[in-house]
Amino acid sequence: MKILVTGGAGYIGSHTVLELLSHGHDVEVLDNFDNSSAESIRRVEKLAGRTVRVHELDLRDEPAVTALFAAGGYDSVIHFAGLKAVGESVAKPLAYYGNNLESTLVLLRAMAASDTRQLVFSSSATVYGDHAPVPYQEDHEPLGANNPYGWTKVMIEQVLRDVAASDSSWRIGILRYFNPVGAHESGEIGEDPSGIPNNLTPYIAQVAVGRRESLTVFGDDYDTPDGTPLRDYIHVLDLASGHVAALEHLAAMEGGARAWNLGTGHGSSVLEVIAAFEKATGVKVPYTVGPRRSGDLTESFGDPTRAEAELGWKATRSIDDMLTDLWRWQSQNAEGFGG
Ligand code: NAD
Ligand code: WQD
Repeated sequence: MKILVTGGAGYIGSHTVLELLSHGHDVEVLDNFDNSSAESIRRVEKLAGRTVRVHELDLRDEPAVTALFAAGGYDSVIHFAGLKAVGESVAKPLAYYGNNLESTLVLLRAMAASDTRQLVFSSSATVYGDHAPVPYQEDHEPLGANNPYGWTKVMIEQVLRDVAASDSSWRIGILRYFNPVGAHESGEIGEDPSGIPNNLTPYIAQVAVGRRESLTVFGDDYDTPDGTPLRDYIHVLDLASGHVAALEHLAAMEGGARAWNLGTGHGSSVLEVIAAFEKATGVKVPYTVGPRRSGDLTESFGDPTRAEAELGWKATRSIDDMLTDLWRWQSQNAEGFGG
């Protein structure tokens, strides 16, 4: 298949591009490098032993994107491009609604104009909002969010369902990721957050490598076994293989839009993650317990059985694998791709 990957230079995108190449697909990347660097794709090319054509474009540039699709001959698109920092989305809602919604609308119009109607979209467990019971089920309604970033995912999902309902030649997969962590086992590619990491495992890794002094655990008074929140951490390589499985399923599917949870179905606490990191790497992570972070849920994990039944996909890597691979990446690249 010839596949255009938007946001393919980013964290999940780069691992997925590598997985697609290893399955023999023909892959091109569209990215504006707003939150990534071309070095990630150079390393993917090195690992795959193949070159990847990169289109340095903003997805909101409609004339350029339309022209790209008119000439591209793509069979399918995987749409990762977007802004993703929850706290920043609260401070800059218009930037988030603007980028995430506009870029998706431009993409859908360019796809329709070129008769490319197979799409995999990066959604998030955040669409289950504050009140869904765990483990989250794909059919849960109503979807919702507690920050502008999350609402962009809810809104885009609705757009995708409406588009698929309007024309049965669209085949759309909506993948709801839980908490992606880890890195490729080579240590060549991984997550390279700009500035202070928002997420737990990159923060732990930066403390361990000496870039930050100590971790703050955001609250230990939750109603969980050790008082810290539970999350469904999933290895980024399992996530990458989920995209390949979804594409293969879509190619054989009748028209429509369908959502799948991509998670392990299991929650780990913050203190368990710290302990597992120390055990997997032998490196101590100093931490102090601080106040809760606003908006954090007590627990978030999904039921992954639909993806297993329909896509034939299941997460196989353990939390120890995730943290070992994260540490290999971070210790070999203390400053990320810029180092
Ligand atoms: P990332 O920031 O590493 O990758 C996103 C990529 O999109 C970046 O390379 C960025 O430069 C590019 N981009 C952003 N806006 C663009 C635009 N207008 N035009 C072209 N390129 C643009 O993020 P990631 O962690 O790889 O996430 C990928 C997708 O998965 C995002 O849609 C994100 O919301 C979603 N997601 C991520 C997580 C997570 O925790 N990482 C969880 C659930 C869902
Ligand atoms: C995990 C746990 C924190 C940092 C976010 C988005 C979500 C999704 C994935 C995209 C929580 C605790 C964290 C720290 C800590 N993204 N923590 N100290 O909040 O589950 O999900 O990223 O869709 O939408 O909300 O992930 O890694 O930020 O936090 O104690 O320095 O670690 O309180 O319990 P989260 P996270």
